Amino acid sequence: SQGIVTVVGSYVTDLMSRTPHMPKVGETVLGGPFKMGPGGKGGNQAVAAARQGSAVYMVTKVGDDEFGAYARANFTKETINTQYVFVDPVEATGAALIAVDDNGDNLIVVALGACGTLTTEEVTQASQVIAKSDIVLVQLETSNEAVIATVALAKGHGVPVILNPAPYHEFPREILQDITYITPNETEACSLTGLKVDTEADALQAAKAIYVMGVPNVLITLGKKGCYYYHGGESGKLYPGFEVQALDTTGAGDAFNGGLAYALASGQALGEAIIHANAVAALSVTKVGTSPAMPTIDEVLAFKAVDKL
Ligand code: RIB
Ligand code: NA
Repeated sequence: SQGIVTVVGSYVTDLMSRTPHMPKVGETVLGGPFKMGPGGKGGNQAVAAARQGSAVYMVTKVGDDEFGAYARANFTKETINTQYVFVDPVEATGAALIAVDDNGDNLIVVALGACGTLTTEEVTQASQVIAKSDIVLVQLETSNEAVIATVALAKGHGVPVILNPAPYHEFPREILQDITYITPNETEACSLTGLKVDTEADALQAAKAIYVMGVPNVLITLGKKGCYYYHGGESGKLYPGFEVQALDTTGAGDAFNGGLAYALASGQALGEAIIHANAVAALSVTKVGTSPAMPTIDEVLAFKAVDKL
C-alpha cells in the first residue's frame, strides 16, 4: 500500500484572475482570464497526495451551498474520502481572491467561511481515521482549536504530524513540541523566529531556532531554490529545487506538502521524500491554478527520470 494520509484543514473556492501587474491601493486593473476552481491549502495538499497515490481522508467544513457540493464532488473525483467533510448550516463555503501577475507571482485574500469554524468535536469524530493514518497533515488555514485537536489526537495515537504553518498567524506554540515535521516557507520561518530568511545561511539560523522550539525535523521551503532540511547539529542540507518554467506559483507550497506527506506515508526516507516533494512542487508551477495543477505520480516519476539523464 502507498499509505494513508489524513489532511485536516481548509477548503475554499479559488477565484483567480491573471493581471498584467499587481494593482496598487485604490487601483483597478484590467486583467483576465478568470478561472474558478477548488482550492484552500488543505484541499490542495489533499489533492496533491491523492494524485501521488496516497489513500487520503479530508477533514474540513464547507457551507450548505453550491460551492460546498462542488467541493465534495471534486474530492470524490480525486478519490479523496469525504466522510469528514462537514457542512455548516450558517457559514458559506470559503473563497480565495487570487491575482497572478505575468511573472507567475500571486497575491491572495482568503475568506475561510465554513472551514474557519471547524471544531474540536468535529476533528475528534475523525479520531479513528487519524489513528490508522501513516501521516497527518495540518496547516494554519482553519481554526486554532482544530489544529490543536488534530495534533493532540495524532500524538495520542502515535501518528507523525506535518505542520505547514501557512498562512502564518499566532497559534499556541506548545503544539510545536508534539509535531514531527514543520514546513514553513521563508516568510513563515521569519514570522516564527523573527529572523529574516533569504540565504542558505539564514535558513540554517532560522531552522536552528525552530528546532529549539521542539520540532525535530525542520524543512524550510525556499521557493525555486528548493528545501533546506535541519534536524540538529552543526548544519542542515539544501535539497535544490528542480528547474522549470514557472507559469503560476500559486499552490506550490501545497504541492510540496502533499508530495511530502505521500512520500513519507509510503515509507520513503526523508531525503528521498524531500526530493519527491520538490518535484511535485516544480511540476505544479508549470500549470495554471491550484488543486487542478497538481501533477500525477506518473508525471512526477517521468519528470524525475528525465532530470537524472
Ligand atoms: O496555497 C494556495 C491556496 O491558498 C489557494 O488555493 C487559496 O485557496 C489560498 O487559501
Ligand atoms: Na500552479
